[in-house]
Amino acid sequence: MNGNKKSKDSTVQSRYGQFAEHVETHDEPLPLNIDGYEPKGLEPTNRLAERLYAPTQLIDIPEPAINASIGCGNPLAIASIKAGEHVLDLGSGGGIDCFQASKAVGDEGYVIGVDATPEMITLANKNREKMGANNVEFRLGQIEQLPVESNSIDLIISNCVIDISPDKTAVFNEAFRVLKSGGQIAITDTVLLGDLHPQLKANIDIWSGAVITPLISLEAYLAYIVEAGFIDIRVDSLTSYGLESFEQLDEASQKTLTQNYEWSPLPPKTGLYSAAIWAQKP
Ligand SMILES: C[S@@+](CC[C@H](N)C(=O)[O-])C[C@H]1O[C@@H](n2cnc3c(N)ncnc32)[C@H](O)[C@@H]1O
Repeated sequence: MNGNKKSKDSTVQSRYGQFAEHVETHDEPLPLNIDGYEPKGLEPTNRLAERLYAPTQLIDIPEPAINASIGCGNPLAIASIKAGEHVLDLGSGGGIDCFQASKAVGDEGYVIGVDATPEMITLANKNREKMGANNVEFRLGQIEQLPVESNSIDLIISNCVIDISPDKTAVFNEAFRVLKSGGQIAITDTVLLGDLHPQLKANIDIWSGAVITPLISLEAYLAYIVEAGFIDIRVDSLTSYGLESFEQLDEASQKTLTQNYEWSPLPPKTGLYSAAIWAQKP
């Protein structure tokens, strides 16, 4: 492991370890913008999970799992999931997507969540016990080197995690390895769209909380998926983080975004977006 990757791994663990501890010690959701700026145009509520998921999807999910939600979308909404399937969540956090998957696959199915942060695994395991979700298992590990058997998974989901990885080639190669033939990958993640001035791009990284690994363009992101061998790749939706309405952003946001950069209105489909991406292993 090179030094840069090692130091990013420890930054990930201390950052997300603090978030997990916050959820354990405060009986409230993480602040909306704790891991970046919240996507606009979603339901106006202070709980991120209530913006990302339909109310019916949150039934029976333990409160601390809902409070720990720091995703940027709803990967299961673009996946087809069936009873009896084996599902893997890359960067499972407090477990919110795993628990939804556990209800869909039922007793005959199985769900594995992999996360690099020990405190997140502890939190997710407590949530699993609260829910009595016996078909879910959380494994401590890296998504670049999955502790999962080859050709064993029907569906991979991931919610706002792969953008953090410094080695996306390894992530998608590993995803390809563990999926069965015909298996699906359904991801929501943050990407950049359009031609952005380098200083604006750097400011967006800071504003959006991309403090560990710089954000990449949608095209570059899709290229990793193609390169790993996936087929039938679709971008099902793109949700803006609201940069086109610069005037409506709060003062602190405007200040961050205009450091060494004079703001001018962005062309359509330019800026920071949450993308929902689906693909299949041949
Ligand atoms: C933004 S949070 C998303 C958590 C969860 N998917 C959700 O929607 O609430 C990112 C999670 O990915 C984990 N993570 C980040 N980089 C990772 C890596 N390289 N391998 C495994 N887990 C990672 C973090 O520990 C954290 O729990």
